[in-house]
Amino acid sequence: MPDTGQVIRNADGAGSTGGAGSTDAPAGLDGVVVARTRIGDVRGLEGCYYYRHYDAIELSSHRTLEDVWHLLFRGHLPDQAERAAFQRQAAGHRVLPEDLIPFLRTLASTDPFDPMAALRTAISFVAQRSGFRSWLDIPPDQLYDNAVQLSAQTPVLLAALHRLHRGQEPVAGDPGLSAAASYLFMLSGEHPDPQHVWALERYLISTIDHGFNPSTFTARVIASTGADLGAAVTGAIGALSGPLHGGAPSRVLDMLDDIGTPDRAQAWVRDAVLRGDKIMGFGHRAYKGKDPRSALLREVADTLGGRTAEFAAAVEDTIVGVLAEMKPGRALNSNVEFYASVVMDACGIPREMFTPTFASSRVIGWCTHVLEQVSGNRVIRPSARYDGQPPEPVPLSDEMTQA
Ligand SMILES: CC(C)(COP(=O)(O)OP(=O)(O)OC[C@H]1O[C@@H](n2cnc3c(N)ncnc32)[C@H](O)[C@@H]1OP(=O)(O)O)[C@@H](O)C(=O)NCCC(=O)NCCS
Repeated sequence: MPDTGQVIRNADGAGSTGGAGSTDAPAGLDGVVVARTRIGDVRGLEGCYYYRHYDAIELSSHRTLEDVWHLLFRGHLPDQAERAAFQRQAAGHRVLPEDLIPFLRTLASTDPFDPMAALRTAISFVAQRSGFRSWLDIPPDQLYDNAVQLSAQTPVLLAALHRLHRGQEPVAGDPGLSAAASYLFMLSGEHPDPQHVWALERYLISTIDHGFNPSTFTARVIASTGADLGAAVTGAIGALSGPLHGGAPSRVLDMLDDIGTPDRAQAWVRDAVLRGDKIMGFGHRAYKGKDPRSALLREVADTLGGRTAEFAAAVEDTIVGVLAEMKPGRALNSNVEFYASVVMDACGIPREMFTPTFASSRVIGWCTHVLEQVSGNRVIRPSARYDGQPPEPVPLSDEMTQA
């Protein structure tokens, strides 16, 4: 192939530019800082992460979901009056309009039923039905209201979809209950055990935000184009649904079921790694030591007790040991999903609702990031380095020649 002498020259990329003044980022943007944020900080080396200026694990242990939601949206923890006003505003969105139910019924009747696919369709519909518009065309207050609405309605939509799929009618949330309690109530139709509410709330708070993870980054990219909030959240749900991001927790329980007994763990993991499989619930891009969320949720799982919690704790060390031996130097420890699956299972949440439940808290993080993105927006538009064949003249088509 002749070298054309143009900027793009060969498959090793030597002559290619990704655009004026471009630099190459590592695959997966590993370690690349793409923005400044005041929302949170993931300190991978120190093994901790922050929401605003507070340690997220401390918040998970000592505050309510609504307080932390207020912290992210408003920048500070609420006082009593602010808490009441915020709760009132959120509660106003927890009642689903009657005319939405037939649409949810159709979504819930699909076979096979995928609650994450149903959720992203429902959110897209809700945003359109509610008249969400490009943030370029609405005042900031309206975008903020959109954010409160989607954050409040996501758990309600999920619970309704779940029940409708099972042939049950949706249950309205109880305004007297906390967000976590209300979610469990809307899922099962029964007043939840306070210990389950406590456990789920710890989980939900600890998963609201976590740096520029794939779904959050997706939300910011979409928001950066001026698209409406519904578009950003719909895209983020799609990113979260992948097994390598938010889709892992149900697969963790499948794995524990498949392992069966602690004595089988060693051989099971070895075979899986030899096949090239990823062990679900292990490894993290940011944490090379302990994932602090895993430690928190292990404590929560221990408190709840039960066979699955004991079994998970019994095989965790074996899995870490095999990974250390077969993937030396990668520092693969349990991540948030490992004990998240155990906690959600113990709270009576069905397996297929694990990732959707994750979405019900992460939506608060996505919305916060959209609010921040638009406050100093620049379209997120990186470049790519062409790595294909060198340019060559377009061969003439026989048909075109004849014409
Ligand atoms: C979370 C995750 C996507 C991070 O990935 P990453 O930072 O891009 O790391 P990589 O996929 O490049 O992995 C680096 C090395 O560790 C290995 N590795 C990473 N996680 C692994 C896992 N869970 N099981 C087995 N090997 C793993 C990779 O195979 C790779 O090995 P190699 O160097 O021999 O190719 C990855 O650890 C993973 O897929 N984990 C399982 C899914 C999961 O639990 N997701 C929830 C995340 S909170």
